[in-house]
Amino acid sequence: MDSSKSEDCEYFGKIHGIPLYKEFIKYWNDVETFQARPDDIVIATYPRSGTTWVSEIIYMIYKDGDVEKCKQDVIFNRIPFLECRTEELMNGVKQLKEMASPRIVKTHLPADILPASFWENNCKMVYVCRNAKDVAVSFYYFFQMVTSHPDPGSFGEFVEKFMDGQVPYGSWYKHVKSWWEKRNNPHVLFIFYEDLKKEIRKEVIKVIQFLGRKPSEELVDKIIQHTSFQEMKNNPSTNYTVLPDEIMNQKISPFMRKGITGDWKNHFTVALNEKFNIHYEQQMKGSTLKLKIEI
Ligand code: A3P
Repeated sequence: MDSSKSEDCEYFGKIHGIPLYKEFIKYWNDVETFQARPDDIVIATYPRSGTTWVSEIIYMIYKDGDVEKCKQDVIFNRIPFLECRTEELMNGVKQLKEMASPRIVKTHLPADILPASFWENNCKMVYVCRNAKDVAVSFYYFFQMVTSHPDPGSFGEFVEKFMDGQVPYGSWYKHVKSWWEKRNNPHVLFIFYEDLKKEIRKEVIKVIQFLGRKPSEELVDKIIQHTSFQEMKNNPSTNYTVLPDEIMNQKISPFMRKGITGDWKNHFTVALNEKFNIHYEQQMKGSTLKLKIEI
């Protein structure tokens, strides 16, 4: 336990109290002082909550359902990842600065850490929330396949860290609550991964209308088709297969892994589930946010 903690320290530092990749933190001033534009749209999530899925849906909306335009470049160039920074390869802030408007911005930051200018400019923001147990499962596989993470240990060990907020972006509970508090802000749309799985048409229409566009039947049909799990899994511009194994080893686990709800049932033991439920109740006490985890 102690040795895994010290190993984690080699990979993660802390920013505003949340654990984050050291390279991201090194250039934090660039993130904090980021200048938003009023027509930016932000896609915010806790990691592994359906970011890529909703990103592609929104990109399709912006391109009026033109699939070819969506395939012109990989998703992390079309929709830069704001706080992502490595010495040489990735610089979300730089990508965004050089990008013509309207920009679509991906972030995993909690609402209270999001650069102030997004709030000052009344940018539209879509927050995607996924149930904690499926997030923990998906994050566990992500830890194994993305080389910038320490060994997550057994699933049980990883879940302990997840509950404790000792993973990048910290406590899932605090993260979702930070955005839930913003749900009545007219510039924020709070949606659920589970609803996307259950009623994709309804949810896509909701997003289109939130972005001030017309949900024609043709556009909605095209979006549903192009952003299905299978389509996105087979699409090199969305499945991250362009990245080398040294960064993301998809032989260990694919980025587009299962794309279902309830996979936690295949991973949590009865005892771990009971422990998680008790902790969950404590963490979410007093919150009106209710997640559908039994689907
Ligand atoms: P699983 O690991 O449970 O399969 P993010 O993009 O935030 O990193 O989230 C990744 C998760 O979203 C993965 O979950 C991935 O399979 C799932 N996902 C991505 N695209 C999807 C889609 N079109 N439909 C359903 N799930 C999708």
